Amino acid sequence: MEELDTSKAHVARVYDYWLGGKDNFEADRAYGDELERRVPAIRVAARMNRLFLGRAVRFLTAEARVRQFLDIGTGLPTANNTHQVAQLIAPASRIVYTDNDPLVLVHARALLTSSAEGRTAYIAADVREPATILGAPELTATLDLREPVAVLLIAVLHLVTDDAVAYPAIRSIVDAMPSGSYLALSHATGDFWPAEQVEAANATNRAHNVDFRFRTRAEFARFFEGLELVEPGIVPVAEWRSDGGPIPERRDANIWAAVARKG
Ligand SMILES: C[S@@+](CC[C@H](N)C(=O)[O-])C[C@H]1O[C@@H](n2cnc3c(N)ncnc32)[C@H](O)[C@@H]1O
Repeated sequence: MEELDTSKAHVARVYDYWLGGKDNFEADRAYGDELERRVPAIRVAARMNRLFLGRAVRFLTAEARVRQFLDIGTGLPTANNTHQVAQLIAPASRIVYTDNDPLVLVHARALLTSSAEGRTAYIAADVREPATILGAPELTATLDLREPVAVLLIAVLHLVTDDAVAYPAIRSIVDAMPSGSYLALSHATGDFWPAEQVEAANATNRAHNVDFRFRTRAEFARFFEGLELVEPGIVPVAEWRSDGGPIPERRDANIWAAVARKG
């Protein structure tokens, strides 16, 4: 677990700031504003990503009929958190949340409370140490790993910059899940932007000591190796099962998204 350090921007709080939340500090707002000057679409991207989270959880609950979720990189609680979306459709849904930000821990324990029929639990852990998550008593007490689980890492893996850590971590988590489980991911990319804009964003991240990495579509696809992508496959985040309506500013939301099933 990381220490609570409000002098340095932290992504959970910056994301909260872009979404209009109040759980953020001066360093988060300074970084958030600077990045927005260089990448004007950043708030749109954050909102589009959050809407994808809702659509993915609705699909997983209503269509794929999954009743168990492992939501890694939960973020600060905001509207339409995973358990609220899932339990509206299937009240007995069980959700395990995981994040490595100590501020998320404090808020999540207070706010991520389950329906009476279902269950929620919280693990303070880092996805770079998957054994800690998989071995946590909160996980084994909440999820039955003989039944399908939807593993979510929504807007998280661009913060796990080392490929030698990121790919094996996801692999070991998916390996621990039974067949019929799902993996839902979204990930920031520079694919839609000119190289200067990618470099400007990278420079801002470096200046604020934010460990962040864009991945290409091919690098994103690697996380799903061995799994079956569900329709519509890998698409810009705003386009994933957007119900055919108009998609405003879709190219501005520089995030790839996909959901896949373990056969
Ligand atoms: C941009 S927020 C996304 C929140 C939520 N998943 C969503 O899409 O609305 C990223 C979250 O991932 C968490 N995070 C970053 N690195 C992590 C790591 N190595 N292990 C676990 N959580 C991490 C951050 O603390 C933050 O809460």
